[in-house]
Amino acid sequence: MARIRFEGVRVVYPTASRPAVDGISLTVPSGCLAVLLGPSGCGKTTLLRTVNRLQPIAAGRIEIDGRDTAALDPIVLRRSIGYVIQAVGLFPHLTVAQNVAVVPNLLRWDPRRVAARVDELLASVSLDPAVFRRRFPSQLSGGQQQRVGIARALAAEPEILLMDEPFGAVDAIVRGSLQEETLALQRRVGATILFVTHDVEEALLLADLLIVMRDGRIEQAGAPAEILTRPATPFVADLVDAGDALRRLSVITLGELLAHGQPAAPEAGSSAELPSLDAGASLRDALAVMLEAGASRLRVLRDGHEAAILDLDTLRGAARR
Ligand SMILES: Nc1ncnc2c1ncn2[C@@H]1O[C@H](COP(=O)(O)OP(=O)(O)O)[C@@H](O)[C@H]1O
Ligand SMILES: [Mg+2]
Repeated sequence: MARIRFEGVRVVYPTASRPAVDGISLTVPSGCLAVLLGPSGCGKTTLLRTVNRLQPIAAGRIEIDGRDTAALDPIVLRRSIGYVIQAVGLFPHLTVAQNVAVVPNLLRWDPRRVAARVDELLASVSLDPAVFRRRFPSQLSGGQQQRVGIARALAAEPEILLMDEPFGAVDAIVRGSLQEETLALQRRVGATILFVTHDVEEALLLADLLIVMRDGRIEQAGAPAEILTRPATPFVADLVDAGDALRRLSVITLGELLAHGQPAAPEAGSSAELPSLDAGASLRDALAVMLEAGASRLRVLRDGHEAAILDLDTLRGAARR
């Protein structure tokens, strides 16, 4: 299912000598967390803003669920798409609850439904509603403001969420927990997310689909593991530091990883169909086997018996450390 489809999209700013987005074609499937990665100025923000029509396009088309967005009312379109930016942009004169409720109120939800939804959302971004509901933005830390911004973006239950370097302004620890929460929310809500970052580690952690951009174009798009192991160009290889990550993977064995981490417990059912490797094999071998088999999980064997199931996320985490 193609949730968002870009076809030959081009953006030219009036004063610029070359296009900021230069003929981008891309399909983002439903429920996918797609990450736009690339250096500053490569056109990530511009491309993101074409989706909710904050940015007009000079050529090409953008479809959402097969419908050309040019034919939709931009105001209605924007209300149906969550948008999170680094500068959170909370309304300073409104409480946390009122900020989160902005779009549901615009949509004229029943007040009781709004109140219940606000509490649920605050809890889902780890803010205790009883503590934070009545506070004003000035009474929150940067990380807490960012959480309220995310809750607000999710308030109207958007099926599409645009996130532009949303965690850039918070410290590393809060950033880590917001990344985890984003993944958890995505799994729970099943939203399609287009996420912009210039941070490679963040991109590798979050992406189902990683899109590497350069000078307004797509340099490579694919699964993170594929881009790590088979970078299409020297630019991509440099950016994801593929050599370094692979070196790390080749010196760690499956057994060592499992001894340090918390592997997924063997699940009942279909694990017999998964590829398998001995615990003495390297993570690089594991990645190769998983790519070959098109599998996101792998059976780890000790003495021929299944000791654990390794998933791609765990492997990706190891590539980063
Ligand atoms: N409003 C604008 N007017 C003119 N040029 C702009 C404007 N916004 C961005 N640009 C230029 O377009 C290019 C892409 O910018 P942007 O999409 O913000 O990149 P990124 O988000 O990847 O850093 C850059 O060269 C930038 O200078
Ligand atoms: Mg930007």
